[in-house]
Amino acid sequence: MVSFKFFLALGLLGISFTSAHPTPGGSPGTYKCGEIDVFMTGLPPAHPLVKAQGFDPVFVNKSLTADAAEVVKAGYNLRVVLMGPEQPLSVLNDQLKGINWDATGVGYGVRGSSVQNLTVRLEDILQTYRDKAWRAPIVFNHSPTSSLWAIQRHFPLSSNCTNSPGKDLVSEI
Ligand SMILES: *[C@@H]1O[C@H](CO)[C@@H](O)[C@H](O)[C@H]1NC(C)=O
Ligand SMILES: *[C@@H]1O[C@H](CO)[C@@H](O)[C@H](O)[C@H]1NC(C)=O
Ligand SMILES: *[C@@H]1O[C@H](CO)[C@@H](O)[C@H](O)[C@H]1NC(C)=O
Repeated sequence: MVSFKFFLALGLLGISFTSAHPTPGGSPGTYKCGEIDVFMTGLPPAHPLVKAQGFDPVFVNKSLTADAAEVVKAGYNLRVVLMGPEQPLSVLNDQLKGINWDATGVGYGVRGSSVQNLTVRLEDILQTYRDKAWRAPIVFNHSPTSSLWAIQRHFPLSSNCTNSPGKDLVSEI
């Protein structure tokens, strides 16, 4: 027979589990400033496949820089790894190590492309996230400057983080 104690233990386990790592889809105001670690990848602005898709590298660069700054300012910790499909997936794997990511994302330059290499890379990125950060929801922006929107949908913060912004979890590539 399963005892009440067993359920109690499960309940307690559940509590320690969720407090150690936020559960996705929480109600508004659930998470604290600097508590959520977000990982994003996409193409470097100057990559030939950015231009090939008709995007202006200078505009993309400005947008991505502003987008990342907005996310950190809002109170989220962020690592952005910009890499082309010619770089091995081990680069992505290495950058995912060491942090228990709460959310992962892929930029539109990879997601929306009709370049076969990028479609293949998108598959590989999603599979990598599934393997290495399976608990983290994969979040999609809808423009070069809407990452904050994508993150806030899943992880609304409990307070105004103007005076305690997130950290720039600088990537080493
Ligand atoms: C992107 O913009 C930043 C800051 O505005 C600048 O330092 C950097 O050199 C630019 N990179 C590219 C690839 O244009
Ligand atoms: C796609 O990748 C192959 C190597 O895997 C490379 O030879 C080719 O130039 C790439 N195509 C584009 C459009 O980047
Ligand atoms: C957060 O606080 C700052 C100043 O303390 C204010 O300018 C800003 O509008 C506030 N943001 C939100 C989303 O309430």
